[in-house]
Amino acid sequence: MTTLIINIQQLISIRVQNHLLRGKALAELPGIENAFLLIEDGIIAEYGHMYELELKVPQLPGHIIKADGQFVLPAWCDSHTHLVFAGSRENEFVDKIKGLSYAEIAAKGGGILNSAKNLNDATEDELFIQAWKRLIEVAKLGTGAIEIKSGYGLTVETELKMLRVVKRLKEKSNLLIKSTFLGAHTYPVQYKENHQAYIDSIINEMLPVIAVEKLADYIDVFCETGFFSAEEMEIICKAGMSYGLKPKLHINQLNSIGGIQKAIELNAVSVDHLETMTDKDVADLAASDTIGTLLPTAAFFLRMQYQPARQLIDANCAVALASDYNPGSSPSGNMNFVVALSCIQMKMLPEEAINAATINGAYAMELEKEVGSITVGKKANLIFTKPIPSLTYLPYSFGNNLIDKVMINGEFL
Ligand code: NIG
Ligand code: FE
Repeated sequence: MTTLIINIQQLISIRVQNHLLRGKALAELPGIENAFLLIEDGIIAEYGHMYELELKVPQLPGHIIKADGQFVLPAWCDSHTHLVFAGSRENEFVDKIKGLSYAEIAAKGGGILNSAKNLNDATEDELFIQAWKRLIEVAKLGTGAIEIKSGYGLTVETELKMLRVVKRLKEKSNLLIKSTFLGAHTYPVQYKENHQAYIDSIINEMLPVIAVEKLADYIDVFCETGFFSAEEMEIICKAGMSYGLKPKLHINQLNSIGGIQKAIELNAVSVDHLETMTDKDVADLAASDTIGTLLPTAAFFLRMQYQPARQLIDANCAVALASDYNPGSSPSGNMNFVVALSCIQMKMLPEEAINAATINGAYAMELEKEVGSITVGKKANLIFTKPIPSLTYLPYSFGNNLIDKVMINGEFL
């Protein structure tokens, strides 16, 4: 089917070629005012100024959509979520209000272990139904590509259950989905005194099945004091890499323990969180090809310091933004809020935040050839805004729903 969209107030993120954006280039967000966009079989086929329409599209298709007053931009690429989980943890939310820290709640058996208990009790079908609802919800909020992790199972059977749910989501959904194995999210209680035995289980029992059933694209480790050391992360990543899983890692949320350097050495696609960065961490990351994925809603929800976005961007790091959607530290997958918060609290320019949540997010999932910009040949995964005065209005008018419609593969949701 061919669809022509005309009278677009502004078509945002026009790119002839793909580049991972860093430094000053992150603030460049090219657009066309009063534009048209031609979509053939779900793929962007042509675009341009309205005055070029006759020349570029000599034969108008039957299906024409008017987008007067609307901004059209690439759908969000949310490169870090834990969207498959069971139940919720609002009791811990109250504990936090009363003064307990994230680390104290985890030490009490709450946190990840609490979610693992809930997940253990849920059937695969129950998990799938809950996750599907969340996926539809975030798609309506403009997310067109998403990464989803395991990590609330922590046993062979339950980690596989989570990843099988992600596989079913991939099969059923039109969204582009990448899957990450996060068996090394925390140590289960029975392995508290014997870390090596759990690492052995990840390597010898989980990974071989994941490889045979093709259940994951990436391997992740929560590298943190009280969780996995940089050395343990290396061992687990190398095992995953032997099955073709590239590392995409939780690093420097609470402490800086050498994870950045180790992740770069392992050629990690991305290092995610980064609330706690030393100057050396920033310099090393800037000199690498690894993307720094910032998760500001986790810092917001946990009342922690935000990621040093300005310092990272100004140092020339490649920065992406993601939601970290999970029941413990970011119970929201709303990328519109992630973008707004990044501008409000991390002083990212609106253009920088939008680029970080689209094209750089696509890179952080290795989906840059398919999504993340308005480029001929990419999927027509698009956000149509309500009439707004400017693009800056999006993060400025935070918390308001400014999305009129979302298109995935050329079709409106
Ligand atoms: O990315 N920090 C580790 N993992 C998740 C949160 C896990 C949880 O609290 O359930 C995160 O923030
Ligand atoms: Fe996370």
